[in-house]
Amino acid sequence: MPALLPAAGRVVMISGASRGIGAAIADRLLADGYSLSLGMRTPTPPADPERVLTHRFDAKDLPTAAAWVEATLQRFGRLDALVNNAGIFRNVTFDEGSEDDLDELWAVNVKGPFRLTKAALPHLRAALHGRVVNICSTDGKRIRDHSASLGYVMSKHALVAMTHATRFAGWHDQLRATALCPGAVETELVQNVPGAVPGPGRIEPATIAETVSLLLSLPDNASIAELVVNTRLESTL
Ligand SMILES: NC(=O)c1ccc[n+]([C@@H]2O[C@H](COP(=O)([O-])OP(=O)(O)OC[C@H]3O[C@@H](n4cnc5c(N)ncnc54)[C@H](OP(=O)(O)O)[C@@H]3O)[C@@H](O)[C@H]2O)c1
Repeated sequence: MPALLPAAGRVVMISGASRGIGAAIADRLLADGYSLSLGMRTPTPPADPERVLTHRFDAKDLPTAAAWVEATLQRFGRLDALVNNAGIFRNVTFDEGSEDDLDELWAVNVKGPFRLTKAALPHLRAALHGRVVNICSTDGKRIRDHSASLGYVMSKHALVAMTHATRFAGWHDQLRATALCPGAVETELVQNVPGAVPGPGRIEPATIAETVSLLLSLPDNASIAELVVNTRLESTL
């Protein structure tokens, strides 16, 4: 087993690559030398058409998940990693938010990654050394305080659970999966999160992208199931 896996020749799918953390991950992995398949609700022409495919993926438009995986295989002939990054925030507590908000959180943050993972699994198994990185949150690990969105927290706990299920589903085919759980990251999403760490204390998207780059490079015998990247001091996180 090599000390680190090489980037060249490996194909990575990233959902929600249009902006925020997803766009930063795409920039970082392109610089590393990966070939990329970028899922976007409204695809834009790729900056580097040699190594980058852009394709429509909308978690609320069910067939786009399998169609995007299929297009990736057609273009590159293989799939080595899936980064489930696309996600939304809605404020749902016992007092605020609606049933529709809760359904939307479940549709985008949970069912989207489920559908993509299901479609990608046979190809990730076949690739050997396949990788899945799910962008969860510290909200996937605990409920911070009374101001937290329970709806968002529940969706991210579900994504952490799905990560562990993915590890069991692929382990014997050398597939490894990680639940990456950042605290507040400086993107549009965090602007709507009540009680989030304010501006200067937030993580830069490029820092999360660097972490994803590291995770994809780790060999099969250095598997990280959960990685919490926190901005605050919290017991056990
Ligand atoms: N920012 C934080 O503090 C923070 C912390 C921990 C974890 N996270 C997680 O990190 C991930 C990325 O968040 P971000 O902060 O980068 O948010 P962002 O800047 O708001 O970007 C969200 C991304 O998700 C896409 N998206 C939204 N709805 C979608 C749908 N129905 N189908 C497919 N894609 C959809 C967006 O596409 P459009 O451009 O088309 O809208 C965009 O690319 C999310 O899973 C989020 O929960 C964020």
